[in-house]
Amino acid sequence: MNLEYHHSKTIQLKSHDLKDLLKAKNLLEQGGLVALPTETVYGLAANGLSSAAISKVFKAKKRPANNPLILHTDSLEKAFNLFDFSRTSLKTRERFYKLGAKFWPGPLTIIAPKSAEVPPLATANLEHVAVRIPDHEATHNILSWLDFPLVMPSANLSTRPSPTTAAHVLKTLDGRIDAVVDGGPCLVGIESTVVKIDEDTVQILRPGFIDQQQLELCLNEEVVAKVHSEKAPLCPGQSYLHYSPQVLKVRLYTDDIIDERWATDDVIIAQTKDYVAKESLLGQRPRGSISIMLSDDPKGFAKELYSALYDAENSPDKQLSILKPRDHQKLGAVLDRIERAAS
Ligand code: TXA
Ligand code: MG
Repeated sequence: MNLEYHHSKTIQLKSHDLKDLLKAKNLLEQGGLVALPTETVYGLAANGLSSAAISKVFKAKKRPANNPLILHTDSLEKAFNLFDFSRTSLKTRERFYKLGAKFWPGPLTIIAPKSAEVPPLATANLEHVAVRIPDHEATHNILSWLDFPLVMPSANLSTRPSPTTAAHVLKTLDGRIDAVVDGGPCLVGIESTVVKIDEDTVQILRPGFIDQQQLELCLNEEVVAKVHSEKAPLCPGQSYLHYSPQVLKVRLYTDDIIDERWATDDVIIAQTKDYVAKESLLGQRPRGSISIMLSDDPKGFAKELYSALYDAENSPDKQLSILKPRDHQKLGAVLDRIERAAS
């Protein structure tokens, strides 16, 4: 444990205050750690070309050193320069340009061979680097003022749910980082889709808001969807334990089995419509049970999920039951997250 993090207070900054954004920029230039808003989740930013700054990120998050980070920047040209396409085919370079032009700024991370200037610490010694251009005005401004990219893992302690508000960031990192910029709740609410472009395949390593079909449409070729494997995770260091709220237990239910368990003291997360339907069918839930309502549509559900996981922590002695929305097929990427939370 590095005590230095417990001595400093985390400064709270506002994304609409120019003075605050300049303060964030200065802290980053001095090698500090600043949590920044993006459209997906809040990221813990540090100088992506400085090994000293990057090692502070791993310490503050208690992140295993074998889990590589995503470099964030603000232009296609800067992103291109973080890669080494000199040894790849023209086709691979074209894949990069097609995806970048179509989805950036936005919730897509692209992995390809890394340029020499990317420190091995950022990629956990891998020869490939992950790069993204996030879509958030304040963070975009900060990136444009800096002459280096930022590493930005989600701004939470390792294994905990990703933060979608500044308050979530403070919940696990208060006193461990220099500052947080409050940019309001994240609009997408789950992490970016991670896609790896190789010579012979394009592969989704982490599902997200941008799905397989959209990628295939953009590239006009087959994209391999992520196959989940606990033993051999595609993203190195991506342990199966993830997104864990601090509650007694997390259970995932489908519509038919929840009927039998209805009258227990669980915390329930449900799609609004399903929940209300159950209530009229099975009667009032017992006192002492808590329900957290989520939106019916997949986008709303994704946006609200992590907040719901953190809200459930207000009842740490209860089991959190998540009722899978009825049309969960459309929820692909979100389902990946709740299955991990429940594992
Ligand atoms: O939406 C997002 O991507 C957010 C925001 C802040 O940009 N960031 C984020 O970072 O989710 P993080 O560190 O929590 O997740 C990055 C994922 C990890 O699963 C990591 O293993 C994988 O990307 N990854 C990073 N670099 C990689 C590489 N070179 N090869 C394979 N996987 C990589
Ligand atoms: Mg993370």
